[in-house]
Amino acid sequence: MAVGRGSFSSRFAAIMALAGSAIGLGNIWRFPYMVGQHGGAAFILLYVFFCVFLSLPVFFAEGILGKTSRLNPLGALRAKAPKWSWAGYMGILAAFVITSYYSVVGGWSLDYFIRSISRGFHGMTMEESAAVFHSITATSWEVLAVFVGFLGLTALIVLAGVEKGIGGFSKVMMPLLFVMMLLIVVRSLSLPGAGEGLNYLLKPDFSKIDGPAIASALGQSFFSLSLGVGCVLTYCSYMPEDENLFATGMWTALFDTIFALLAGFAVMPAVFSVSGLEPGAGPSLVFETLPVVFTKMGGIVPVVFFLAVLVAALTSSISMFEVVVAWLIDEKGMRRGRAVLLVFLAALALGAVCALAPKVFSACDFATSNIFMTLGALVFVIVIGWVVPKSEPFKEFSSSPSGARLFPVFWFLLKWICPIAIAAIAVTNLL
Ligand code: PFF
Repeated sequence: MAVGRGSFSSRFAAIMALAGSAIGLGNIWRFPYMVGQHGGAAFILLYVFFCVFLSLPVFFAEGILGKTSRLNPLGALRAKAPKWSWAGYMGILAAFVITSYYSVVGGWSLDYFIRSISRGFHGMTMEESAAVFHSITATSWEVLAVFVGFLGLTALIVLAGVEKGIGGFSKVMMPLLFVMMLLIVVRSLSLPGAGEGLNYLLKPDFSKIDGPAIASALGQSFFSLSLGVGCVLTYCSYMPEDENLFATGMWTALFDTIFALLAGFAVMPAVFSVSGLEPGAGPSLVFETLPVVFTKMGGIVPVVFFLAVLVAALTSSISMFEVVVAWLIDEKGMRRGRAVLLVFLAALALGAVCALAPKVFSACDFATSNIFMTLGALVFVIVIGWVVPKSEPFKEFSSSPSGARLFPVFWFLLKWICPIAIAAIAVTNLL
């Protein structure tokens, strides 16, 4: 093991860190909207189906690679399947690119958190709120300042190391994040007219399950579990040796799905009750509609909500940042301090371009979520399913009785279903 690699102090820390990576902006701004758009409960069922039958096996494949090699994505692939090590470089590059543009959005959440404390949205109409968002993203100095602030926070947590920094932050902040979200859900559901929002989210409409709905459910379950770029691999390389990977994966997927649903219950009833509007997607939902909605709910609701968005974004960005840092430590023999500084400076350069040039931002988002993540996931399942001896994954599963019982199912999915399904998605995305 490389000197100074570090490890999580406990199983709880490992699960919270993995859940922290999984739970992020994807849960808060993409999931609720997609559910409403694509058939409510029908979409949720589809999403859970993909999580269980495709994403979880990929999670385990990545986790096994990391846990058994105790290395970064490149080192792990080089040790286990040298022919596939190019995918390690791809994962590290993808993690770096996502860190850069994700931190731009992270910066917006920092900006909104600060504004919510200073009651900057008070009494605003929807048009005024949209104008504020556009002026923030158009004012270069502000968007750059909050981006640098967010990236700096990410770097500081990673600098503090795996145990104290990443593990310590996740152990404290993740439970707090759940409590914050629960508070908003309770407040949101108690509003008059909240039922309409619930209806939008939950009414099952199987006629809406078409090609785009299936592609969205699958893409979202990959993005949400942070698969394909080596985050899961890197975090699992820090897990205590005797830790049960099967249980860790199940808990992570469960927390991620519960949180996505909670976010939906927090957001949609409030949007319908206060504005009576069709909810927008992505940035416009979180940064234009919600400030107006939550400010009308009054009290500390907006502050709590934007703090939750900020924490969710931070625990995800540290996981991507750490992938690159782990590579520099393991493969280039760098000390953590130097590695963090280097990644910070490089991400500063690419992120600044993303912050100021929306086209570059979209290109980075498209390339990573549609191409790199899918290809990375494909390589991870091929390596575990076809290259390494079956005894390696079996050993990881058999450390728990339920894992041992479910191993044949996992093995079948991993060896046959996942490669075919993921290759089909990769081809569709490339066309
Ligand atoms: N899972 C995170 C979210 O849902 O927001 C995003 C993410 C984190 C994607 C880490 C990819 C990644 F490597």
